Amino acid sequence: MMDLLIPDKTHDESRQGEALMLKAETAKNNGRKLYIESYGCAMNFSDSEIVASILAESGFETTPDYSIADVIFINTCSIRENAEQRVRNRLKEFTVAKVKNPGLVVGVLGCMAERLKSKFLEEEKLVDVVVGPDAYRDLPNLIDQVDGGQKAVNVLLSREETYADISPVRLNSNGINAFVSIMRGCDNMCSFCVVPFTRGRERSRDPQSIIAECQDLFDKGYREVTLLGQNVDSYKWKSKVEGSESEVISSVSEAETNFANLLEMVALISPDLRVRFSTSHPKDITDDVLYAINKYDNICNYIHLPVQSGNSRILDLMNRTYDREWYINRIDAIRRIIPDCAVSTDVITGFCSETDEEHKETVSMMDYVKYDFAYMFKYSERPGTLAAKRYADDIPEEVKQKRLSEIVAKQQEYSFYRMQARIGKVEKVLIEGFSKKSDKDYCGRSDQNAMVIFPVGEGYKPGEYVNVLIERSTSATLIGRVV
Ligand code: 5AD
Ligand code: SF4
Repeated sequence: MMDLLIPDKTHDESRQGEALMLKAETAKNNGRKLYIESYGCAMNFSDSEIVASILAESGFETTPDYSIADVIFINTCSIRENAEQRVRNRLKEFTVAKVKNPGLVVGVLGCMAERLKSKFLEEEKLVDVVVGPDAYRDLPNLIDQVDGGQKAVNVLLSREETYADISPVRLNSNGINAFVSIMRGCDNMCSFCVVPFTRGRERSRDPQSIIAECQDLFDKGYREVTLLGQNVDSYKWKSKVEGSESEVISSVSEAETNFANLLEMVALISPDLRVRFSTSHPKDITDDVLYAINKYDNICNYIHLPVQSGNSRILDLMNRTYDREWYINRIDAIRRIIPDCAVSTDVITGFCSETDEEHKETVSMMDYVKYDFAYMFKYSERPGTLAAKRYADDIPEEVKQKRLSEIVAKQQEYSFYRMQARIGKVEKVLIEGFSKKSDKDYCGRSDQNAMVIFPVGEGYKPGEYVNVLIERSTSATLIGRVV
């Protein structure tokens, strides 16, 4: 895919379309087989685990083979036109399975379901059920409806749903890293973005349920959690605290947990549990969050801070609510408070009315920050967004592509520069498993989220930390040996 340079764990290209597996726990539905595959961001992959858990409760087993499935779910992404196209192409491939098994239930979940609603049923005859991201508890009923011969749709968005009580299931997991969703939805209304329409209003999850989930993961041997939200810095939870001021008067006050507090609470579970998080928003990331990262060794020195554009006029049109100076100030604060912190970003090229001069300011922002990674995209107009309503998508495709190629090449240089700077250093690596290329090598991530490859050896195994002396690098990988 042209517009994605380096896969990460929050939008992992290698996992797009991955199917999930889970054994059934009850006999209802007689172990009917569910096949579910996911597209888009980490939140979608995490949601598919919630879906599998809800359906396991009503007797479904998961299968990695859609040709033997009774129910096929596809958890979709709407962020760019090409993400939607990919899903439509994939749906076509399920047609044969439906011809072979007319009782097969085909469902579309997630952002595309929410965006297209019942229109999906008209446009794609194969589809029986359309379910938005806040309606997954209703899935067993919706499947019953389809079994009864009807089509079914539930795309109601909720102001409260966080699925906080759904016991976490970890599917196709390495038993070492897990995603934990801490909030849902988004209130930011960036003008290019469809997410506020597909995932609804922002709401935070009760911190106690988050801590309990992370503690449980740690007890089961997991060693890294990534706290997920569209904008983790606006995490907020108010809880009532009862105190008694005297024997006769009792008081109820409110205690607020913000993201800095939450990070600390998760970090305190164990120094051996690494804590990561995504995504941060430049307008909301506070110095308190940076101090928390610096204070705890197990909160990883890595921040994904999407800039989108380096030009203040474009940022204003994008409704990002910060300008170039504000973003630079946040980068300076990161450099000051966390001396050795990796920073990655998202960039959009060719947003409505962007001039060559304005594009150059994005390039100069890359020169200033020297990002460790970047996810770079051409602007893709999404129906219903503020930008689609207000501004013409007037940058020709060739210009968008030329600007994209320029920043992709620039990022390649800076990724390599950042990697080269680690040579000769010793990195603490959490071993995740064998490297993709060879079972003679292990791979794992450094604190700064760089992939590190080193020879398999006696005395250490996946799930453990090792110190690796970095000897060489590519632009995406550090290579070394355990010391
Ligand atoms: N066109 C291109 N890229 C987009 N993104 C979000 N909406 C669009 C769009 N309409 C990018 C942003 C965001 C990332 C998840 O996807 O860079 O940070
Ligand atoms: Fe995730 Fe956004 Fe795609 Fe929805 S539209 S799946 S929130 S990346």
